[in-house]
Amino acid sequence: MYTHIVGTGSAVPQRVITNDDLAKMVDTSDEWIFSHTGIRQRHVVGPEENASTLGCEAARRALEDAGISPEEIGTIIVTSTTPDYAVYPSTACIIQGMLGAKNAAAFDLAAACPGFVYGLTVAKGLMQIDNRPVLVISTEVMSRTINWSDRNTCCLFGDGAGAVVLKNSDQPGGLGFHLVGADGTGYLAIHREGGVRTEETAREKPGDLKMDGRSVFNFAVRSFCDIIAKSMEHYGWSEKDLTWIVPHQANVRIIDAAVKRINVPVEKFYVNIDRFANTSSASIPIALDEMAKKGLLRRGNRLIFAAFGAGLVYGGVAVEWTK
Ligand code: COA
Repeated sequence: MYTHIVGTGSAVPQRVITNDDLAKMVDTSDEWIFSHTGIRQRHVVGPEENASTLGCEAARRALEDAGISPEEIGTIIVTSTTPDYAVYPSTACIIQGMLGAKNAAAFDLAAACPGFVYGLTVAKGLMQIDNRPVLVISTEVMSRTINWSDRNTCCLFGDGAGAVVLKNSDQPGGLGFHLVGADGTGYLAIHREGGVRTEETAREKPGDLKMDGRSVFNFAVRSFCDIIAKSMEHYGWSEKDLTWIVPHQANVRIIDAAVKRINVPVEKFYVNIDRFANTSSASIPIALDEMAKKGLLRRGNRLIFAAFGAGLVYGGVAVEWTK
C-alpha cells in the first residue's frame, strides 16, 4: 500500500505588508530585511480571518483539486501554532464542521513549523489502519503572535494556509522515506508564553513570540543537511536523481548555508519566501501548491520536504510525485 498526494490547495489573506511599510513602523529597511532574510513582503489577515477560515479555504481547494468530496475524508489533521482556541476545541474540529466532512475524525497536531511534515508522517501511519483519504491542513496567523514593535521578529513572519489530500493505492510512489526528530533541550529557543505552565501564565494574556535567532539558525542548517543527506542515502540518490527540495521557508541564508555543506545546487531549492515570509507550518504546502499550479511538478519527480522549528523539532519526507 502506498500513500499519495492527490490534491493540493492554499489560501493567503489579500492584505500585504511590504518591507517599506514595516520601515514606517520600526527602525528597519527593505535593504536590511531582504539582505538578511530574502523577504520582501508578507500577507497578513484582516479582522474576519483566522486559522480556521484560511485552513478551510485551502482545504476546499485541495479537495476540489483531488476530485474528492468532504464526506469521503476519514481524518482531518490540522497543524497550527496559532489555533483559533488555545487548546480546545481543536481547529481541526472547527474546519471539519465548516467543510461538512461529517465522516471525518479531526485533531490538531503540535509540531510547530515542521507540523506539515509531522502531519504527513502521522497520516501515513494512520492510513495503514484506515484506508480512507486524509486531509492534512497547515494554517497560520503568525501576525497575531508578533510584537509589531520588535524589529528582530516582526519582519520574519506571514499568514497563510496550505493543504493536501492523501489517498492510498497500490501504485508505487508517493510518500516515501520519513525522518522526524527533536531536541527538547532547546525548547526555549522559540517560545510563546500563554499555557498553563504556572499560575501566572495560566491567568495572563499569551505573550509575544520570542526567539534566539542565532541558535535557531544553526539548528536549521544542521537539520536541512541531515534530512537531505539521510533521504538521499536511503535511496542511493545522487544530486542528479533529485528534482526539488521544498524547504521550510524561514530564511534564504539558511538555505545558502546548507548548500555550502551539501552537494545539491541552490536551484533545486524551491523558494517563495520573498512573497510570503515565514508562514510556519503552512510554508511547505503553500510552496507545493504554488509549484503544482505553475506546472513545475511532473509524474516521477523526486522531492524532499525539509523543516525545522520550535521544540526544537525537525522533519523531512521524500516524495515521488504521482499526481
Ligand atoms: N532591521 C534592522 N536591524 C535589525 C533587524 C531589522 N529588522 N533585526 C535585527 N536587527 C539588528 C539587530 O538588532 C542587531 O543589531 P546590534 O548588532 O546593534 O545588536 C543586528 O541587526 C544583527 O542582528 P543578528 O541577530 O546578528 O542578525 P542575523 O544576521 O543573525 O539575522 C535573523 C537575524 C533573525 C534574521 C537570523 O538569525 C535568522 O533568520 N535566524 C533564524 C530564525 C528563524 O528561522 N526562525 C523561524 C524558525 S521556524
